[in-house]
Amino acid sequence: MTRKVTKAVFPVAGLGTRFLPATKSIPKEIMTLVDRPLIQYAIDEARAAGITEFIFVTSRGKSALEDYFDSAPELEAALQAKGKDDLFADLTATNMESGAIAYIRQNKPQGLGHAVWCARRLVGNEPFAVILTDDVIAADTPCLKQMVDAYQDTGGVMVAAMEVPPSETSAYGVLDVGGEDGALLSVRGMVEKPAPGTAPSNLAVIGRYILTPQIMDNLGKTERGAGGEIQLTDAIALEIAEGRPVHGLCFDGERFDCGSKAGFLQATVAFGLARPELHDDLRNYLHDVVAQQKAAQ
Ligand code: G1P
Repeated sequence: MTRKVTKAVFPVAGLGTRFLPATKSIPKEIMTLVDRPLIQYAIDEARAAGITEFIFVTSRGKSALEDYFDSAPELEAALQAKGKDDLFADLTATNMESGAIAYIRQNKPQGLGHAVWCARRLVGNEPFAVILTDDVIAADTPCLKQMVDAYQDTGGVMVAAMEVPPSETSAYGVLDVGGEDGALLSVRGMVEKPAPGTAPSNLAVIGRYILTPQIMDNLGKTERGAGGEIQLTDAIALEIAEGRPVHGLCFDGERFDCGSKAGFLQATVAFGLARPELHDDLRNYLHDVVAQQKAAQ
């Protein structure tokens, strides 16, 4: 089978309840880090890894996402008329070529595995990537690109992996590792959200996957697992049970959990500091805040 990965699935059907009331009227994927919505970071990472077809698994209330990737003729004309070339370039860089993006509905929230399975006909018979937009990763070489490169040697399924404190393993899919070769882990088991104290390791799956089309068949027969949902982790574990290779890649980069308020705020600070035009003001502000907090103690 080809090892060229050109399709990515973005499961964006979640309700975003952790960010209510904001997510009452905006999809959480449109929430912004500095001036770019979370989804834009995911799309940019996918493009950098060679992805050319983008499959969004959406739900009711997500139409703002479709508009975001469409052209905005009035805005474009207004910016051009005013000679605002930089803003015009920023804006048009978000437009998606016609036919590059497909939207498919998950009509019942039945879990990540079910969301991915909803894309089975669009994915067809080739390997594909899955990106969870809550996990934002700052890296010199984008995380998915690191994975696609490693996948050229391994084939099979590949997941992004990261060490987390033992107290946090119950929030993740966790790897049982059989062997290591540098950053590459060979995986002999996977558990979704293990009960505290029962995790096979402290290596958690982070929201980047390269999957083989076989996963869609596995998902079709996967029973409800953790949280009463159809879990992608369980369908990957079935690959291992059937003797097919699954690898983890301990990627280079810093991951932010933008599915939590604390993680989102940390990402905002980190991405703000990474912008040359914001760096000094923000740094000085943070410095003053910390000094005031210390003085008040
Ligand atoms: C999902 C996956 C989990 C993975 C996590 C990474 O969980 O089910 O295996 O470790 O993403 O962020 P969620 O965070 O959607 O509960």
